[in-house]
Amino acid sequence: MLSGKKDHLMKVGVLASGRGSNLQALIDAVKTGRLPVKIIGVGSDTADAAALARAANESIPARAFPPALFSSRLDQERSILFWFEELEAELLVLAGYMRLLSEHFIRGAGCPIINIHPALLPSFPGLHAQRQALNAGVRYSGCTVHFVDAGLDTGPIILQQTVPVYEEDTEESLSERILREEHLLLPEAVRLIAAGKVRHNGRKVLIERDA
Ligand code: GAR
Repeated sequence: MLSGKKDHLMKVGVLASGRGSNLQALIDAVKTGRLPVKIIGVGSDTADAAALARAANESIPARAFPPALFSSRLDQERSILFWFEELEAELLVLAGYMRLLSEHFIRGAGCPIINIHPALLPSFPGLHAQRQALNAGVRYSGCTVHFVDAGLDTGPIILQQTVPVYEEDTEESLSERILREEHLLLPEAVRLIAAGKVRHNGRKVLIERDA
């Protein structure tokens, strides 16, 4: 089990690079009581990321770690890790964080890291997943929440949700349809992890269903 201590709100740190709508979905789920965790900090690689403003609006500690301010990637990652360590994060969520994390970061985190991706992995990893899906002519795409390893969107899959792809879809219309599902899937994955219902068995993730 990854957690599940009774009466303890899991401390969740979030990394986001941009708009932060997935972060907002987590915040809203916490505020409405659907997601019993505490979001303890939001970090970004982009100083003017809307995600940081969303966090600040909710009085959640928010901090930018722009790579240009650090001497190396290692240095930048160390600084992020140190911050989340100070905040005692027990789970890190990549909610639109558009940078690959090094093995050093993943091992150093000392807690699970999960990511939301706008495609049905292992199809269409990396950038422009929705465009990749349209170009491949698939009839279904969707979103995936997975544990993060050092590969590009290659970690063990926790949850997936499909959406149909229509012939008249544009990258924008497909992205919107997927995003609506992301906003449900990510809070649900965090809820399951915080409730201690998610177990690892190699690449396979086992989920204990709610009673
Ligand atoms: C989301 O669609 C997320 O799945 C994607 O970036 C968007 C962030 O939106 N992430 C990736 O593509 C990671 N490979 P948001 O900032 O509004 O949450």
